Amino acid sequence: MISIRPFNEGDNQSMLEIERLCPQGDENCAMGVEKTDIIARYKMYDNWDVLVAEVDEKIAGWIGLTMKSTHGKEEKYAYLTEVMVDPAFRRAGVAAKLVEEAEKKVREMGGAYAYGYIYEPNKSSRSLFEKMGYSKMRGIKFPGISTYKKWDLSPEYSIKPVDEKDIGDVVGLINEYNSGFIHFVQLPMKFLNRV
Ligand SMILES: CC(C)(COP(=O)(O)OP(=O)(O)OC[C@H]1O[C@@H](n2cnc3c(N)ncnc32)[C@H](O)[C@@H]1OP(=O)(O)O)[C@@H](O)C(=O)NCCC(=O)NCCS
Repeated sequence: MISIRPFNEGDNQSMLEIERLCPQGDENCAMGVEKTDIIARYKMYDNWDVLVAEVDEKIAGWIGLTMKSTHGKEEKYAYLTEVMVDPAFRRAGVAAKLVEEAEKKVREMGGAYAYGYIYEPNKSSRSLFEKMGYSKMRGIKFPGISTYKKWDLSPEYSIKPVDEKDIGDVVGLINEYNSGFIHFVQLPMKFLNRV
């Protein structure tokens, strides 16, 4: 029997152990994250929830969500941040139940829809969300620069750590560059100035 309950701090260790067994992807290409605080990412959200699934009183998995709204718009929607199931409890409907319960929460909190990101090689997650009625909206490519790599810069550019007095300009640039992208929430100047 699968039961769903809210997360509590005492779940941290068991969830960390499960997360280590849950790289996202397949045997050719998988991604994992090493943490000490399982809900670290949620601390940057204002409005979030993590639901834990238990089977025979053992933690079998969890799902996380956070509510969002686009600047200047009334409509609320949810970002489903992650769903993880211990390999020992897979293919028994745990993730499907977690997604259903998360959707109930989203409705209760006034959300109009939910979305998430799925790492391309993650076939099981893709099938799960297809089965739950989600559709692919678009593909996203993440560009990245390795920070440890020595790189010969073109002489017209130089890179330096940002000065505190320039943070406003930097935030302005980030906001300007990303404005118009769906789901991009303008970075608040006040918050970043405190970092
Ligand atoms: C993806 C994941 C959460 C699925 O958990 P689960 O509890 O095994 O999923 P369910 O038993 O609820 O499966 C529901 C449906 O999803 C699909 N599905 C789940 N796992 C699948 C797999 N390995 N291959 C193909 N389809 C799969 C099936 O349609 C399944 O229905 P069915 O069993 O009736 O065929 C789990 O494999 C996992 O934790 N993976 C690692 C972490 C991860 O990638 N999380 C998602 C991104 S954050």
